[in-house]
Amino acid sequence: MTAYDLARGLHILAVIAWMAGLLFLPRLYAYDAEQAEKPEPLRSEMRDLLRTWQHRLLKIILNPAMIAAWVFGAWLIWLDGAVLRGWGVFHEPWMVTKLLGVLALTGWHHYLAVEKKRIAAGTSVRTGRFWRMTNEVPFLLAIVMVLSVTTEWTFG
Ligand code: HEM
Repeated sequence: MTAYDLARGLHILAVIAWMAGLLFLPRLYAYDAEQAEKPEPLRSEMRDLLRTWQHRLLKIILNPAMIAAWVFGAWLIWLDGAVLRGWGVFHEPWMVTKLLGVLALTGWHHYLAVEKKRIAAGTSVRTGRFWRMTNEVPFLLAIVMVLSVTTEWTFG
């Protein structure tokens, strides 16, 4: 077993947990937004429960998983650049695409964290329809990122 084998295994595990959270959190936001149509006291009870789940999902799963994916990803960057392939690999189109996907996913994660605070404060303007429509964004990004690293595609 090499350090690279260990790093990529841990990287994939962290990414699985991160993706699971990114796919589930907007669904909790959609249910939350849709409580507006429900009568009291059901609305308040459901919102309290949904907001507890949103908070726990972000703090217990999403934030640690994102940090772990970055730590093991950074380890892979170092192994690739300094030991295995040389830093030139970071000019390859597949690697640039992969890392742009990482930035987009990290930005989406931060947006979800900001929205959680807005929802808790009652200032979010996002609708259930918005959360249902954007729910697939992380998965579409994941398709591009995973196929970039597995195919190592290039121009020509
Ligand atoms: C969080 C920041 C991330 C960083 C810094 C990062 C960086 C890297 C690096 C440098 C590699 C090695 C590429 C190679 O030489 O083959 C790699 C592999 C990989 N990454 Fe990431 N990545 C991150 C997040 C993600 C995410 C979000 C996904 C999926 C959606 C992902 C999926 C993969 C896969 C499938 C591999 C291939 C592992 C293997 O070789 O078997 N990564 N990553």
